[in-house]
Amino acid sequence: MKRWVSLLLLLVMTPIQAQAEDDPELPVRHHPVEVIIPGNMQLPDEMKPDDRGRIICSTCHGIDNIEKKPRDELNKKDPDFLHGGPYRDLTKFCFRCHDDAEFQRKNIHIQRLKSGKTDKTTCQYCHEEQPDPNNRNARDDLKLRLPPGRICLGCHLKTPHLNAMLHQQEPDDTMRDYLHQTQDEQGVRMPLDESGKITCITCHTPHQKGVIPADQPGGRQVAESRVEDGVVYSQSKWAPIYATDKEQRLAEFSQEQGRPFALEYKRLAKEVLLRLPAKDGTLCQACHRFKD
Ligand code: HEC
Ligand code: HEC
Ligand code: HEC
Ligand code: HEC
Ligand code: HEC
Ligand code: HEC
Repeated sequence: MKRWVSLLLLLVMTPIQAQAEDDPELPVRHHPVEVIIPGNMQLPDEMKPDDRGRIICSTCHGIDNIEKKPRDELNKKDPDFLHGGPYRDLTKFCFRCHDDAEFQRKNIHIQRLKSGKTDKTTCQYCHEEQPDPNNRNARDDLKLRLPPGRICLGCHLKTPHLNAMLHQQEPDDTMRDYLHQTQDEQGVRMPLDESGKITCITCHTPHQKGVIPADQPGGRQVAESRVEDGVVYSQSKWAPIYATDKEQRLAEFSQEQGRPFALEYKRLAKEVLLRLPAKDGTLCQACHRFKD
């Protein structure tokens, strides 16, 4: 399991850990068993409770007598290991019973308290210790829990959107020059990963606006919508499309490349957690130059 997922599970499951530890047959951090299904919880048909309305091993596991099987004979990738499996994203399995609204993942990009102060606990998902945003030397030792190229994965897929995978490569010399030029001109930071490849944080900032002072390159970012609301796409596809000059050029670029842009699938209305605006093409032009 990816580290972040297990950390999340660990967090949500803390209250029940002690119970699981008492039972030598169950792995630590395992889901509670023999608990009564609350009236408002709907179980899928193939997930049957026992005759007292409790969840038991076979409610979740499709392997006969899993409780008697030696641990090393179990294959977690077996489609029957969990009913309806295997699950690439385990939370999908959880949501088959739990309501995803009340079970939502913690949005760790909400980093500022109502008072305006930063919420230190969110920093520690990614940094071992909270770096001091006002100390420019803090950059030298950010104490990241995972290398930059991997720190977003686990919570986010490798392919959160079209183009993200495609971009996980090393820019060539020309592009690298553009990128340096942009960073100087725009006063923005667009770091590559530990092996010189483009990664999530090249385009995105993980920090809520205001955490890193705006006059620092790392603090330059777009925040048209609130982190709580996320990226907003315009709803109506048949709304009159106004083509600004730049948008037209983006479209041309896409045609030139023979591939559609993510931006054209869903029209971006409000952007957030991005280092430069994408909807007018500024972000893309950090590396791609359009023919005039
Ligand atoms: C609510 C659903 C649920 C119930 C009920 C349940 N399990 Fe599990 N079990 C899981 C999940 C989820 C995992 C983790 C799968 C993963 O990590 O991919 C798991 C993992 C396991 C593993 C493998 C642990 C490992 O990492 O090697 C064993 C063994 C296991 N369960 C045994 C049992 C037994 C025995 C029972 C009945 C006493 C039981 N489970 C009841 C959901 C359940
Ligand atoms: C078969 C249905 C089912 C599935 C699948 C399932 N759960 Fe549960 N879960 C329950 C039931 C029933 C309870 C006990 C009643 C309650 O607390 O709502 C429970 C309780 C919990 C609790 C304890 C809440 C508390 O207050 O102690 C946590 C945490 C939890 N589940 C997490 C998960 C996670 C994470 C997954 C996916 C790996 C998962 N559940 C999958 C049925 C399920
Ligand atoms: C989702 C993961 C994540 C979270 C949560 C997070 N950070 Fe970061 N932080 C990073 C990464 C990755 C970098 C490196 C980015 C770079 O190289 O510019 C970084 C860089 C920084 C920097 C250096 C920025 C610069 O441009 O010099 C500071 C300061 C910082 N973080 C402070 C914080 C504080 C304070 C919090 C909590 C409020 C926090 N971070 C929460 C991932 C995170
Ligand atoms: C601990 C889990 C976690 C980690 C680690 C994490 N995120 Fe997120 N992120 C979330 C959650 C939760 C949301 C809220 C929306 C959702 O549920 O997908 C979110 C939202 C976002 C959004 C806005 C999407 C929207 O419309 O709401 C972006 C962009 C984003 N994350 C980028 C990143 C990047 C880049 C990193 C790595 C530096 C990262 N995240 C690391 C959990 C995480
Ligand atoms: C080339 C630039 C670029 C790279 C690389 C990139 N993104 Fe994005 N991402 C965008 C743009 C542009 C958007 C849409 C506008 C916005 O976020 O405000 C976006 C949107 C998102 C969203 C919100 C999606 C939605 O529909 O709500 C998430 C989450 C996200 N990115 C995560 C990631 C993660 C994780 C990675 C690394 C695996 C990554 N991005 C790599 C440019 C990029
Ligand atoms: C940090 C640099 C960087 C940024 C920012 C960036 N790209 Fe890219 N892009 C690359 C690299 C590197 C490649 C792969 C090499 C190539 O195809 O030239 C690439 C490839 C592409 C391709 C595929 C081209 C092909 O021929 O396969 C498209 C389409 C694309 N980018 C669109 C965008 C869009 C849209 C944006 C803005 C949201 C964007 N890029 C932002 C660096 C970047």
